[in-house]
Amino acid sequence: MIQRDAAALSRREAYFLLIDSIVPRPVAWVSTVSPAGVPNLAPFSFFTGLSAQPPTLVLSIASRLERGADGARSARAKDTLANLRATGEFIVHTAPKAKHAEVMASSENHPPEVDEAALVGLATVAGTWTSVPRVESLPVAMECRLLDELSVGDPPTTLVVGEVLGWHLDEAVVGDDSRLYSAHWEPLARLGVEGFQD
Ligand SMILES: Cc1cc2nc3c(=O)[nH]c(=O)nc-3n(C[C@H](O)[C@H](O)[C@H](O)COP(=O)(O)O)c2cc1C
Repeated sequence: MIQRDAAALSRREAYFLLIDSIVPRPVAWVSTVSPAGVPNLAPFSFFTGLSAQPPTLVLSIASRLERGADGARSARAKDTLANLRATGEFIVHTAPKAKHAEVMASSENHPPEVDEAALVGLATVAGTWTSVPRVESLPVAMECRLLDELSVGDPPTTLVVGEVLGWHLDEAVVGDDSRLYSAHWEPLARLGVEGFQD
């Protein structure tokens, strides 16, 4: 067996070991809106459920590292985190394989004034339990309110805890037993070095 002592790893090595060890990962495609009303959509694969009562989920949002004109590096919150902190609301759509290209396009470092859903050609409708736009064509969406957050490291990565206020489900994925059959919508699954599951 090979042992890797975490204390001896660079940030990059630790990142690769984490994303290669924790596989496959579902992709939370997260919609938020800025206080000025600009919609935002971005994917996050450090994502899972937390508890059933109340229904909660978690996702982790790293800082965005930027190099200024003077060459100095600085960290700032990604738009998703800034928006959900400001409004206390977000919607998590579980990304389907059929939208892989749109997921990737929405993950690019667009400035805050860009509406990624519109950019990648996805129509949105108003949320039911929140004031956040929901991508209408996606089969599974969970409207959330921000319950808590925890920041780890410097620059910080933030674990966001969302309480699910309600679900939107395409009838095609819901069985007679009210369970959701993933074979009908094929969730996107992120791997480590291999990219995505076929
Ligand atoms: C499939 C996929 C999964 C991602 N998972 C994460 C993640 O878990 N945490 C994170 O901070 N960034 C993740 N990213 C990168 C963000 O999507 C990216 O930084 C995006 O520009 C953030 O957008 P925002 O500034 O509009 O919030 C992921 C990107 C892709 C394509």
